[in-house]
Amino acid sequence: MPEDTPITISQSSDGTMYVPGSEIVENANVTAYMKQKGFQSYHDLYEWSVRNPQEFWADQANELEWYQRWEKVLDESNAPFYKWFVGAKTNIIHNALDRHVKTWRRNKLALIWEGEDATRRTFSYQGINREVSKIASVLKSMGVKRGDIVTIYLPRIPELMFCMLACAKIGAAHSVVYGGFSVEALADRIEDAQSKLLITADGGFMRGKVVELKNIADEAMARTPSIQTCIVVRRTGHEVNMESGRDLWMHDLLALPIASEKCETVPVDSEETLFILYTSGTTGRPKGVVHTHGGYMVGTYATLKYVFDIKEEDRWWCAADPGWITGHSYIVYSPLIAGATSFMYEGAPNYPYPDRWWSMVARYGISILYTAPTAIRGLMRFGEAWPNRHDLSSLRLLGTVGEPINPEAWRWYYRVIGGERCPIMDTWWQTETGHFMITPTPVVPLKPGTATRPFLGVETDVVHEDGASCGANEDGLLVIKRPWPGMLRTILNDPERYKNSYFERVPGVYTVGDSARKDEDGYTWIIGRLDDVIKVSGYRLGTAEVESALVSHHDVAEAAAIGLPHELKGNAIHSFVILRAGVEGTPQLEEELKAHVAHEMGPIARPEKITFVSTLPKTRSGKIMRRVLKAQALGQDVGDISTLES
Ligand code: PRX
Repeated sequence: MPEDTPITISQSSDGTMYVPGSEIVENANVTAYMKQKGFQSYHDLYEWSVRNPQEFWADQANELEWYQRWEKVLDESNAPFYKWFVGAKTNIIHNALDRHVKTWRRNKLALIWEGEDATRRTFSYQGINREVSKIASVLKSMGVKRGDIVTIYLPRIPELMFCMLACAKIGAAHSVVYGGFSVEALADRIEDAQSKLLITADGGFMRGKVVELKNIADEAMARTPSIQTCIVVRRTGHEVNMESGRDLWMHDLLALPIASEKCETVPVDSEETLFILYTSGTTGRPKGVVHTHGGYMVGTYATLKYVFDIKEEDRWWCAADPGWITGHSYIVYSPLIAGATSFMYEGAPNYPYPDRWWSMVARYGISILYTAPTAIRGLMRFGEAWPNRHDLSSLRLLGTVGEPINPEAWRWYYRVIGGERCPIMDTWWQTETGHFMITPTPVVPLKPGTATRPFLGVETDVVHEDGASCGANEDGLLVIKRPWPGMLRTILNDPERYKNSYFERVPGVYTVGDSARKDEDGYTWIIGRLDDVIKVSGYRLGTAEVESALVSHHDVAEAAAIGLPHELKGNAIHSFVILRAGVEGTPQLEEELKAHVAHEMGPIARPEKITFVSTLPKTRSGKIMRRVLKAQALGQDVGDISTLES
């Protein structure tokens, strides 16, 4: 290729595919790996990787450092409780920090952070290591031990990352609760994890307003007795209640001699718990998904390297919140393992103006941007003039995650943001999978709206209820056919629920919970969730959680929640409420109930609409038939209602 050939991707002759230009293919990390393995095409590399998944994953693991190597890559003897890199000693922090501070990377920029108020903070690898070591020393001297679960409830500030890393360093597990969640959500998660220590902040900034995290934390702590100590990070400087004997300022602790910059990273077993992350399931309370050090470290690293093609000189921006799996895997852990420079932004994408994001891409020279369809749709509605005011030529790759991206948003992202030169990595995965599962790499031809094909070493299928494969373009259940290193290991305190939720519907494989179809090119198109999980702006919420927040209001006798399509959010929550006898369903009460859900669960769970009803459609065994409510709301045929209570 001559040097002045522009980097480009072009549409296939029939207009359905976007084919990466040869410069992109030639320079991709995955092409180097393909050549190293002696393959001529990505397709051949993929075929080899699924015939030899253990060899593929061991190759990736060999790029990292281990205190002690594994005896076995995969142990399937107690399926579905799989173990990876069995017998190995490691700690994800060794690869994320310790390994780098021994080399020239100690002075490389690891994190650039911009606050919503335009404050800027930057940290080298050495700088992060220092902060993490100090926090880890403090935690240790406060009695946090290997295996303890520390709950973290912080805004999108560097300390969120540092506290997570500090827990991992001393072998404790973190349970991060998203800063947009509220009282009941936080209390439930603290209680399930039985955390003794909570780390929160005096608040965070969002759209110019202060989110009162400490007040919410106070209410949550009043509902659950397990927390003995609460460390408070100062972010806003606003005055907060500090309960003596329980609450301590982080900056006071870090000023004490116990906050040593020398803190050894604790070697742990490959299978030791790294973190718990709660996610919504079909029924009841959120599930505490358990992830471990070894396999997760390998899986997140390999996917970032090959999918987002991370190179030494990149500036990587994953615009998610660290409090969700996307942030855990691709803000906190894998970019550090890869030795990358990351950017993190605290606030809202359109604050104070709709070009906030684009101005930051230009100012920091972001080369790879990874976000969600809801954010793209949200920014798209302000028009092209806002991004066009900025030089976005530093971008070379784009990404999306969280829900299917509508082709219109894909094309806008591709054309207006990516300048028709950046391939879009549509990554399909879940809290449970830990890392990307179905995704292109930069060498794969793209179609707007599909995450294309499974990642290397991963085999997926779309099947009927009996496990038989569906034909091309036939709807079915998405399944993953073999274990992968970053998979969840269990559900905290509930191994039975782990088995029932994922491994029983179709025996022998992992059932995802999504319906999907595969087209004639083998590309997977996600249709939606099959269970009572609603994706609101890409965030995963359970109908059960919204309903339980509603019935905790004194005027509500019963409630049902469903998701209905919404132009910006993908789905919005609609609720149906039976009031207690004698209470009248007024517009004021509707507002009060919406505010109540937002108070208990968080603003993202606030219902779009509440309808007061006198009955709810139920099965004879008393289960609410949400699909009937949904069909009615959409004016569709309600389908088979033979089990409906008469
Ligand atoms: O329904 C799929 C959807 O998000 C679900 C997982 O949600 P969560 O655990 O919150 O993780 C989201 C971030 C990894 C999936 O079951 N989903 C995720 N990514 C995509 C997607 N749907 C379509 N396309 C995607 N790229």
